[in-house]
Amino acid sequence: MNTWRNLPGKAYVAAAALHPRLRARADKAAKVLSREERELFLSMKRYDLAHSLAVADRVRDDPFLYRAALLHDAGKLPSELGLGTRWLFTALELAAPGLLRRLCGAVEEKAEGDGPMERVRSLPRGIRRGLYVQAHHGEIAAELLRAWGSEDEMVRLVEEHQHTPRDARARRLRDADDAL
Ligand SMILES: [Fe+2]
Ligand SMILES: [Fe+2]
Repeated sequence: MNTWRNLPGKAYVAAAALHPRLRARADKAAKVLSREERELFLSMKRYDLAHSLAVADRVRDDPFLYRAALLHDAGKLPSELGLGTRWLFTALELAAPGLLRRLCGAVEEKAEGDGPMERVRSLPRGIRRGLYVQAHHGEIAAELLRAWGSEDEMVRLVEEHQHTPRDARARRLRDADDAL
């Protein structure tokens, strides 16, 4: 993903995140989700809510993809990923992607366990844990959604959204995500 290219989209999302009716919009959109999915979606920070709503708007003609778009970033768990780490991640993505890759690689080596959530919890709270969550948020959301009985296709779309798309649906989600 070229982070410089989508700065106008990010500026739009930042403005949308400040909108006083954001929570009401999110509540309304969340009606298409299951109870557990809704809880996960609504637990997101305002910026992620605004981003996910904007991505979902772009794929509104496909109701299944609309749900996937609402949920795709729900693995950026606010309890595990602080604002400081998010800023650091974005700054490094823009200015020093090589350093970011090395840092994430080092964290990757420290993480232990089978599933992504177990690996998250094996790391000390703070920057290392946050970097791991940011780097693996697709897999984290997928693990939670799988446990709560979301459809296999939903789990796949969310899990793979950080990787190269494998089909047209995943490509649409990726394109909308990259633009915002
Ligand atoms: Fe994402
Ligand atoms: Fe996203």
